[in-house]
Amino acid sequence: MKIRKAVIPVAGLGTRFLPATKAIPKEMMTIVDRPTIQYIVEEVVASGIDQIIFVTSEGKSAIENHFDYNFHLDSVLREKNKVALGEELNNISNLIDIVSVRQKKPLGLGHAIWTARHVIGNEPFMVLLGDDMVLSNIPCAKQMISLFDEIGESIVAIQRVPQNQTHRYGIVEGEENGRDKTYRVRRMVEKPAPGTTDSDMAIIGRYILMPDIFEILSTTTPGHGGEIQLTDALLALTKKRSMYAYEFDGKRYDAGDKMGYLKAIVAYGIRHTEIGKDFREHLIEIAADL
Ligand code: G1P
Repeated sequence: MKIRKAVIPVAGLGTRFLPATKAIPKEMMTIVDRPTIQYIVEEVVASGIDQIIFVTSEGKSAIENHFDYNFHLDSVLREKNKVALGEELNNISNLIDIVSVRQKKPLGLGHAIWTARHVIGNEPFMVLLGDDMVLSNIPCAKQMISLFDEIGESIVAIQRVPQNQTHRYGIVEGEENGRDKTYRVRRMVEKPAPGTTDSDMAIIGRYILMPDIFEILSTTTPGHGGEIQLTDALLALTKKRSMYAYEFDGKRYDAGDKMGYLKAIVAYGIRHTEIGKDFREHLIEIAADL
């Protein structure tokens, strides 16, 4: 049961970033020199997955264009002898096989995943949320796939968050499983009201799911915020078969949030091969003036 396919939902409106996202998809917001979605796609590629399914909506064609071959741009760059840049652009379009399915109504994350059911078929698959960027030595998706190869059941990636932040996430309750950083999921709840859970294990946007989830999603009713929640369907899946939470190695940035986005720019900027060193020195200079 190899993980061959990854679903990346990109249908969201990006209201947290208006007006920046009025005419461009939030997934096309740039971190240094590439859109956030490209980092996610590169993580998928580096994790050995063969195919990506974008779940899109109206106004998201810029994402599909970004990963497509651009004949006109390629010709212009060739004429101008900008060979390296042209090759880099072509590499983006050759990264991986990408297909799109359209989520016709904004009914929630669970519904977005369900929309990909015909392309996934009857095999386990990965889900990556575009807002969650993970900086790590081994790609987060790859860490999870290694664990899946051993346990063969659904996995949600988690990180610890302060108690006053739990209402912003899907929260997992569970027990240690005898394996480092892995917990057996007992209960999970989407964006719990403060004080209703003792757990600090927050789901971040990386999942490996067994295909049984589709049947469950087809009958999942709207939950938190009136949306069909993936977390609710996952809870139902735990009643059928085991599920594990995995505390991945790495640092996650919420690029869908203004502060998280700025932090991601700094974190990726100081590591950038071309400008990283200068940018780091610049930050030290600024800090000295604060
Ligand atoms: C989604 C999930 C939530 C998870 C979060 C991680 O929420 O529903 O369980 O904790 O992503 O980023 P959203 O941030 O889309 O509201």
